[in-house]
Amino acid sequence: MKVKSPPKARSKFRVKESETSYVSADLLTIEEAANAVGKTPANIRYYLQYNRIGKYNPEGKRIVKALNGELRVSLSEIKAFLALIKKGIEKHHHAGLHSELGFYHLAERERTKHVHRLHPYLGKFIPQLVEWFLKQYFKQGDWVLDPFMGSGTTLVVGNELKMNTVGIDVSEFNCRIAQVKTQQYDVEKVRFEILDADKRITLFSKRLLKTDDAPLFPDREFKKLEERLLSGCKSEYLKTWFAPRALLEMLYYRELINKGKYQYKDLLRVLLSRAVRSSRLIPHNDLATPKVPLPVGKEYWCQKHNRMCKPIDNCVSKIHAYSEDTVRRIEEFDKLKSDKKITILQGDSRRINLGKELSSVKLDGIFTSPPYVGQIDYHDQHIYAYELFGIKKNDKLEIGPKSMGKSLKARQDYVDGISKVFQNVLPFLKKDANIFIVANDRLKLYPEIAQRSGLKIVEEFHRAVTKRTEKGDNPYQETIFWMKKKD
Ligand SMILES: C[S@@+](CC[C@H](N)C(=O)[O-])C[C@H]1O[C@@H](n2cnc3c(N)ncnc32)[C@H](O)[C@@H]1O
Repeated sequence: MKVKSPPKARSKFRVKESETSYVSADLLTIEEAANAVGKTPANIRYYLQYNRIGKYNPEGKRIVKALNGELRVSLSEIKAFLALIKKGIEKHHHAGLHSELGFYHLAERERTKHVHRLHPYLGKFIPQLVEWFLKQYFKQGDWVLDPFMGSGTTLVVGNELKMNTVGIDVSEFNCRIAQVKTQQYDVEKVRFEILDADKRITLFSKRLLKTDDAPLFPDREFKKLEERLLSGCKSEYLKTWFAPRALLEMLYYRELINKGKYQYKDLLRVLLSRAVRSSRLIPHNDLATPKVPLPVGKEYWCQKHNRMCKPIDNCVSKIHAYSEDTVRRIEEFDKLKSDKKITILQGDSRRINLGKELSSVKLDGIFTSPPYVGQIDYHDQHIYAYELFGIKKNDKLEIGPKSMGKSLKARQDYVDGISKVFQNVLPFLKKDANIFIVANDRLKLYPEIAQRSGLKIVEEFHRAVTKRTEKGDNPYQETIFWMKKKD
């Protein structure tokens, strides 16, 4: 496979030594790397020369210049780069991949550290990406806005870095996730409440199964409780996508939250929602976009585990697993949290009145990843939560909705919608504010969006995304546009 000649314009991004240390097992000499991927050492040197891949020392530290015999390259980084070339993506980009933004070696637990995994969310960016930009272009005490907040990654990272943050999202459930991730907690109370609810649902489940150690509860009374729970469930979705036992358990837990004297009800709801998501009658390999429920109790061939698996029949095991996990995550973030202000606004970013919320504050910048054209349905991915908690949907206000596809009209509406968001929020930004927009801009819409919003593109950073979804490591390329207001 041939790599096309590099364009004349070299990347403007600043390559600098980083503090990041990578897994040394992945680091190879140029000759070893060439062997491993079926290329010549000259090919690998070429990638290095044009910043397609990074230079590392034997300890895995990113370097600008290598001492004699010390130069190493990263095998996963080269593989991601070659996979993009194969797809025909990389050759279109003049700047090349920014290897420091690939985060190839980041373990799953780092990408989903503390509250970032309180609830799954399809389409979120990794905290390390936000961290990299906020550290480079913002300082403590700055005000950073994310007008497409999603599950609140920018807010969590910004707060950790002692910055004030403002997030807007059209979806009520996304706002709840972000709120639950970022609010101030009495951690001991969190532990008490989560463990209390866990104890109660466990007893309920034992009684439901009539285990030997089940609590004494007269049959007639329990039957009535079951009937009441089921008659309170009007959702066809819930009745279809869950086994009968799982359904009863989640309905009982929901009632515990609603009727119990818990202070952190929304945290318990997010925990339940996460458990409910994992309790759907779906194959293990398709948690993100399942099409139809599996029959209760019927085994299926599982691509994730490479064996026959049975769809889950209960919810209590997931509630139990996520109970301990949630307490730990809240505790971890509590230690990192700063006292900076966090503002979460639910609404349409094209119209929301930021002035009312900010009073005289002028924002220092934006870090955001807008929805892409016709790609993800941000409401439907959490349909189980909308159904369980009866949350009002605002899907008609989503920009670039999946239902509209990628037609010419959909693209025009998208450009119009995203431009309107920037037009709406730019008056609240300082004159020299830094605006970063993470986009998979295959359709090349962002130059026009910049133009229509009164923005100029300062620089484009290209990165390989290798581990974003639950569907594997097949890389794609994404661009981080650095923009500023036009003078
Ligand atoms: C790519 S996601 C952002 C993910 C986020 N960066 C994270 O890490 O969780 C885009 C978000 O834009 C939101 N969105 C779509 N249309 C919107 C609108 N008109 N106003 C505000 N938010 C909108 C969607 O609900 C979705 O959460």
